[in-house]
Amino acid sequence: MSNPELMQLLKNIDTLAVCPDEGEQDNIQLIHDAAIAWKGSEIVWVGPEKDMPDFDDPMQVHDAGGRMVIPGLVDCHTHLAFGGWRAEEFEMRSLGRTYEEIAAAGGGILSTMRETRKIPQNQLLEKSRKLLERIIRLGITTIECKSGYGLTLKDELKQLRVYKELKKEAPVEILSTFLGAHAIPPEYKGDRQSYIDLVLEEMLPKVTEEDLATFCDVFADAPAFTNEEAEQILTEAKKHGLTPKLHADQLTGNGGAELAAKVSAVSADHLENISDTGIERMKESGTVAVSLPLATYYLRKDPLPARSLIEAGVPVAVATDFNPGSAPSYHLPMAMHLGCTLQWMSPAEVLKGATIYGAKALGMDQKTGSLEPGKKADFVELDVESVNQWMYHFQPNCAERVWAAGKQIV
Ligand code: NIG
Ligand code: FE
Repeated sequence: MSNPELMQLLKNIDTLAVCPDEGEQDNIQLIHDAAIAWKGSEIVWVGPEKDMPDFDDPMQVHDAGGRMVIPGLVDCHTHLAFGGWRAEEFEMRSLGRTYEEIAAAGGGILSTMRETRKIPQNQLLEKSRKLLERIIRLGITTIECKSGYGLTLKDELKQLRVYKELKKEAPVEILSTFLGAHAIPPEYKGDRQSYIDLVLEEMLPKVTEEDLATFCDVFADAPAFTNEEAEQILTEAKKHGLTPKLHADQLTGNGGAELAAKVSAVSADHLENISDTGIERMKESGTVAVSLPLATYYLRKDPLPARSLIEAGVPVAVATDFNPGSAPSYHLPMAMHLGCTLQWMSPAEVLKGATIYGAKALGMDQKTGSLEPGKKADFVELDVESVNQWMYHFQPNCAERVWAAGKQIV
């Protein structure tokens, strides 16, 4: 146990990856034979152990045992709280049905909506809590969580209230996103404008009144909302103080990235079908591209053009998209591994994607995502020799100890 009154020092780190925002996507700034010092929840000093200054304060010293240290991982896109699972759809897809066909036949998001409406809030909290515990063990210290499986005022609030409870009790940072515009629920099938009005006139005011979300997201794609509808919702969300995000260009290339840039979204996520113009617009607006390789992989789609985005100077974050349909795994290191194999990103690039750029996609890059003085002491001790070895010799979990806000949580 670390004493919060004392300055803390972790020494005997074989390699530490700073992951600064500066530089290219692959600039992770490795320090060998490193140490890190922090007080309370804040990093005070990072550098080669031999260069450590003389701190006047008494210190509590921890030994990293020659492990590698990286910033706490940031999963900037999940749908953590949901009722039921959809293993039968996984089987159907393995037998040749497509995600789009299954959704059109009433499965997909609507299947999870039915289960999410049924589950009481306390059970949803318990299920989400257990998942979060396992997520934390992988080294995730910041996580974004979306609603979008309730699709009624009551059930959207239920999901967001679960996140609010988790925020109070969990040792990690949780940021919530209102995704009421995830699908048109069946009761509004013939009258989509009435559902949009419900989102605009009842859900958004209530979500902000209860301070339940930081972001507002919309699934802007053929089976869900048009770009015009998404723009209307995100413009209104901004008036309520919510920051826009967008599920963009996932199943069809329909100018989603351009729209994300137009509404100054902090991130545009998926982007498997982004256009060249979309890439340019994102660069101009400073919108982060969130790649979701688990969804690409599970749905057997072509990946987003990560290289073109990186070459254009757009930061590419890597996240899980954890949800019961398109990405039923919360394993962020596996998503990073798939970022290397499917998206042609280097191990260093995916590490930056799951740390500082993930934090950027959440507007948290001034607080976490890199190991620099003044940042939150969020870091992970990994039992691996190098970032390359970690991504290449893929193992269930290399996180030996996880520290969040200066406290050892795993
Ligand atoms: O990010 N694309 C839309 N929403 C989710 C999938 C939700 C689901 O299949 O349940 C996604 O992939
Ligand atoms: Fe998603």
